[in-house]
Amino acid sequence: MKVQDLESLNVVIKERLKAIVVNAFDAVGLQIRKSIKSFPVELSKEERKFFYYVRDNRLSMASDERLFSTMLACKHVVELGIDGDFVECGVWRGGNSILAAAIFKLYGSKKKVYLFDTFEGMTKPAEFDKELSTGKAAIVEFNRSQILHYIDYSGRLGIKS
Ligand SMILES: C[S@@+](CC[C@H](N)C(=O)[O-])C[C@H]1O[C@@H](n2cnc3c(N)ncnc32)[C@H](O)[C@@H]1O
Repeated sequence: MKVQDLESLNVVIKERLKAIVVNAFDAVGLQIRKSIKSFPVELSKEERKFFYYVRDNRLSMASDERLFSTMLACKHVVELGIDGDFVECGVWRGGNSILAAAIFKLYGSKKKVYLFDTFEGMTKPAEFDKELSTGKAAIVEFNRSQILHYIDYSGRLGIKS
């Protein structure tokens, strides 16, 4: 077995355990929610609900801080009446664009939100595909995302694996 296979396996086991705990809570009507240490003060109660919608439904891979940035940037351009629309290149499940659209709607902005992606997933990485800063093989992340996708959907569909 290769080192990268072991790394993928390790990540997958951790994610699988996490999914079991989350599903167990879900079965009794409880939800595990990561506590948000500090919301930017500029975000209202209503806007925070948009954030929780995206976070709770795992609609974005972005960190909380990045999602806050998207929301605050969208508010800022609306408040200042800056022209132009919103484009997200590589949307995955669309969480960032959902937040942008929600903010625009809340403030009555007519800005359009454009989403670009393959929408069919990526091709399997080859041995040459590595993270530039760490040298980590892309196949590790690819395997992890494939399994996570399966766990997520099998969980939602109630399929036991
Ligand atoms: C890291 S994820 C994006 C995360 C997303 N912005 C979010 O908030 O969760 C990268 C996304 O880019 C897409 N992608 C990567 N390369 C692409 C390409 N060459 N053409 C179209 N979509 C691409 C992938 O399908 C994937 O959904």
